[in-house]
Amino acid sequence: MITPQENFDLQSYNSFGLRVHARFFCAAQSLAQLKSALDFAKQNALPLLVIGGGSNLLLREDFPGLVLQIALRGIETVAEDEGSVTVKAASGENWHQFVCHCLQHEYFGLENLALIPGNVGAAPIQNIGAYGVEVKDFIDEVTVLDIATGDVQVMSAAQCEFAYRDSIFKGRLRAHKIVLSVSFTLHRKTQVNCSYQGLAQALPNNGANASPQEVFAAVCKVRREKLPDPVQLGNAGSFFKNPIISRQVYTDLQAKWPEIPGFEIPQAPQSIKVPAAWLIDQAGWKGKGRGGAQVYEQQALVIVNRHEASPQDIEALANAIIDSVWQRYQVRLEPEVQWVPAFESTQ
Ligand code: EPU
Repeated sequence: MITPQENFDLQSYNSFGLRVHARFFCAAQSLAQLKSALDFAKQNALPLLVIGGGSNLLLREDFPGLVLQIALRGIETVAEDEGSVTVKAASGENWHQFVCHCLQHEYFGLENLALIPGNVGAAPIQNIGAYGVEVKDFIDEVTVLDIATGDVQVMSAAQCEFAYRDSIFKGRLRAHKIVLSVSFTLHRKTQVNCSYQGLAQALPNNGANASPQEVFAAVCKVRREKLPDPVQLGNAGSFFKNPIISRQVYTDLQAKWPEIPGFEIPQAPQSIKVPAAWLIDQAGWKGKGRGGAQVYEQQALVIVNRHEASPQDIEALANAIIDSVWQRYQVRLEPEVQWVPAFESTQ
């Protein structure tokens, strides 16, 4: 049995540090506690919000139901041979600590994803990615709980329908499954990915012969320079997704803005990914804000809680940025951060 707490302050459970409350809150440390919390929500007809580290979340108002934090812990090596290893981590494990655990055990591949805030459970939901790597490249299986039936199910990577910052858990299965654990297949032999220009530049000889430990250190250094630590300055990482536009639209934009960066997408040869940070930066938003919310000076894609921002300050700033980018380039920005209640486009 689990007894949720009432009128719970969520300030330290969302990385923006917003002062919002949950009508009920509990943290589930076991499957039994998780099921008991779900029963509580069902019996009391409460809306449910499942959270992990709260690092990709914009809570727009007090939550009228049960906020359920997944706090399942444990990391185990389930299979190993000369070339690869399969490691299973519970969804409540801190992501960066898990990356460090793998590196310490010489399980390679996740170095590029060091210092991403949040927990293991969020990794497959939004297919976290950074510095040339997406977590889908290493996910083997995801174990989930079906909220309606209480069944535990194992989903293969293919069933998760991973895409750029997206998966089936954000789409068709949203609000139907809870991630319990994730299995990763990692390298046992040194194999690094320094394809991302900004990372290669931070390494000796542009990353040639770099060790996984060096890649890890370089990723940590680059991230610390560009991205604010949510413990010191509230934020939720990239606030917007990098928009994916057609090659034709990109060519039209290039005619007007010759410097506009664009990245090829191997899976979608007719599309180009444009850095939202560039669009926002060029539109003059760095350092500008609404109320206590501000566009971070070092990285235009990040909105920070500079001074006791309210959810409305962040929303007003986000909407003003969306409008301004639309007016200037006719490109529609979409939040990368999960809004609760959900984001609705005003355009
Ligand atoms: N740029 C600007 N102004 C800025 C920052 C960047 O013009 O203030 C331009 C530069 O041209 C730069 C380009 O934008 O080359 C891309 O910037 P950056 O390499 O910093 O990456 P990003 O596209 O802004 C993405 C991810 C990050 C991830 C980095 C590194 C998304 C939404 N964001 O950011 O992920 O860490 O690449 O791989 O895909 C997150 O999801 O929360 C996150 C931080």
